Amino acid sequence: MDMDPVTLVLRWAHVLAAIVAMGGLVFARFALLPALAEVDEQTRTGIHDRIRRRWLPWVIGAITVLLASGLANFLLFNARVKTEQWADGSWMRLTNYHALFGVKFLLAMVVFYFASALVGRGAGTQWVRNARAKWLSVTLGLTLAVVLLSGWMRQLHIGENARPASGVPMSPGAGDDGEE
Ligand code: HEM
Repeated sequence: MDMDPVTLVLRWAHVLAAIVAMGGLVFARFALLPALAEVDEQTRTGIHDRIRRRWLPWVIGAITVLLASGLANFLLFNARVKTEQWADGSWMRLTNYHALFGVKFLLAMVVFYFASALVGRGAGTQWVRNARAKWLSVTLGLTLAVVLLSGWMRQLHIGENARPASGVPMSPGAGDDGEE
């Protein structure tokens, strides 16, 4: 079975960073924000401030890892499709992979902007923090769209779960042709 270590590490990094980013958004929107709505204004502002200092490095880290691993993955995948001449060189066009990637990339940039603005403190992004619930919901919806698009892109070349064509026997003692 082909288990390329580079793509595996890239995949681990990308998926883990996506989990941190989306998990943080779900927690903030559906647990933290409603809980903070029940305390007084001064306490709320204090807690937001304490959270910002601790959560900011995670946001910066997740964005960096998502960008680096995503870009590397994209370039490696493109190189492979080209070198191996998938569908006589027209696989990308036939599947609209580049268009899907373009939409995903743009949505991810918007997600990064809002995720940074929500933990930032610059005057230019204060409008986002003035309506935290609304922009958290929007960011969460966009992140969901990014994950759905990513799954779609992946399924274009991985396909549905199927029995292996070759290499791994289907049962102990079976030959290596995938037959039981
Ligand atoms: C909000 C930010 C992002 C989230 C939540 C996200 C999430 C995901 C998820 C869940 C996958 C599927 C992983 C798998 O099944 O192994 C994926 C794949 C991928 N992502 Fe991201 N991603 C984000 C940002 C980015 C960025 C910025 C790039 C490019 C610079 C990128 C490029 C890719 C590529 C190339 C794949 C592989 C798709 C395929 O299998 O054909 N992602 N992403």
